Amino acid sequence: MKRLTLLCLIICWITFPVYPFGHSLLPLFSLDPSYININHGSYGSAPKSVHEKLREYQLTAELNPDRWFRLDVQNAMDKVRKRLSDYVNCDSDDLVILENASAGINSILKSLKFQSNETILYYNIAYGMVKLTLQYVSTEIFTQEQIVQIELDHETIQNTNLLLKKTQDTINKLKNVKLIVFDHISSIPAILFDIETMIKYFRQQGILTLIDGAHAVGAIQLDLKKLDPDFYLSNTHKWLYNHRSACLLYVKKDFQKLIHPTITSFGYLQSFQNEFFWLGTKDYSSYLTISDALDFRETIANETDIFNYNHQLAIQAGNLLAQLWNSSTLTSNDIFISTMNNIELPLNIDSLDKMNILYQKLINQYNIFLPMFQFDNKFYCRISAQIYMELTDYQTVGKIVLDAISNSNFSSILKQSKDYFHSI
Ligand SMILES: Cc1ncc(COP(=O)(O)O)c(C=O)c1O
Repeated sequence: MKRLTLLCLIICWITFPVYPFGHSLLPLFSLDPSYININHGSYGSAPKSVHEKLREYQLTAELNPDRWFRLDVQNAMDKVRKRLSDYVNCDSDDLVILENASAGINSILKSLKFQSNETILYYNIAYGMVKLTLQYVSTEIFTQEQIVQIELDHETIQNTNLLLKKTQDTINKLKNVKLIVFDHISSIPAILFDIETMIKYFRQQGILTLIDGAHAVGAIQLDLKKLDPDFYLSNTHKWLYNHRSACLLYVKKDFQKLIHPTITSFGYLQSFQNEFFWLGTKDYSSYLTISDALDFRETIANETDIFNYNHQLAIQAGNLLAQLWNSSTLTSNDIFISTMNNIELPLNIDSLDKMNILYQKLINQYNIFLPMFQFDNKFYCRISAQIYMELTDYQTVGKIVLDAISNSNFSSILKQSKDYFHSI
């Protein structure tokens, strides 16, 4: 009888494996064991099973390129689009997949045509690429007066009413605001915004919403029907676990005819999906692995458990580091924390130059990377939580930072510092 029970348990485990979160999941990923990935948020990391599927797709393409590009890849992409749109709850015709958030932001901002008196708003915490694309369109398509930045500080980023009040002040001054660009989960600082309230608020005033959700899909539950934005994009390779790179772009039906990819190809003037599907001969394999990433998630745990583990770990890790460094987290209100947290750096780090030197030291001598930034006159780092991480990892990194600071002679190397803070 005992044997039978054991056999049943083994069969159950093989059929429905249950993995505890934390280090026991590390063997499922390809990360170098000597490296603690405290920065999953920047580039993501796909599991080995997803890499294997990637190679399988690439090999299939090589076996018969004509069959692959003319038939198979299109069918496979339709299936992936359908599965991803079910996951984020939207009509599959309203969603396309492209290479990254940069491609999505560029497509939208370079497609829109406004009158010369109409303006676009954005916040100071927008990702660097978004700001630069706005700068580009402000000279090439619009005028500089048409693109207006709103300054947020540590209070307005964690109080939706205050944020909307501040935005409204600018709207009142400008009168003709046509579009507002904002983050779902910003990069630095990492803040989860109440975009449902924001979208509703701006829609009531006839202002279109473009949401940079680069960090959202796979990190938090995403329900596009409920949120109902006009334009929304999210990198899937950051938190969903597909092979990089891939990004979902959602466009509300009313505007699909207006939006074009930055590359013009055979889909031009066809449907929204066709126009974005074929952007020249390229490797679609990473897009196809979105489906395998979703399979991987299903073998690990249910979605709520994945979200909760990462969210709780981000909160606990933030508190642990703040205690270790005798500092504080940027926000203590959990509703503004996703799977990343911002911790004030130890007091000795009080200038951008010192931050830059510390960054080089961490990567070159200690083999870790910690995004660091200045916000509202304070110096912070951002940490990411992930299913293969445990609280002890943050303890280790926290001590490494203290060690690196105590062994640094900041004054002697100040002249060599240069800016390494792009792309975080
Ligand atoms: C908020 C935000 N938007 C956009 C991006 C750009 O993503 P990509 O480099 O994939 O285009 C990032 C990258 O980290 C990001 O954090």
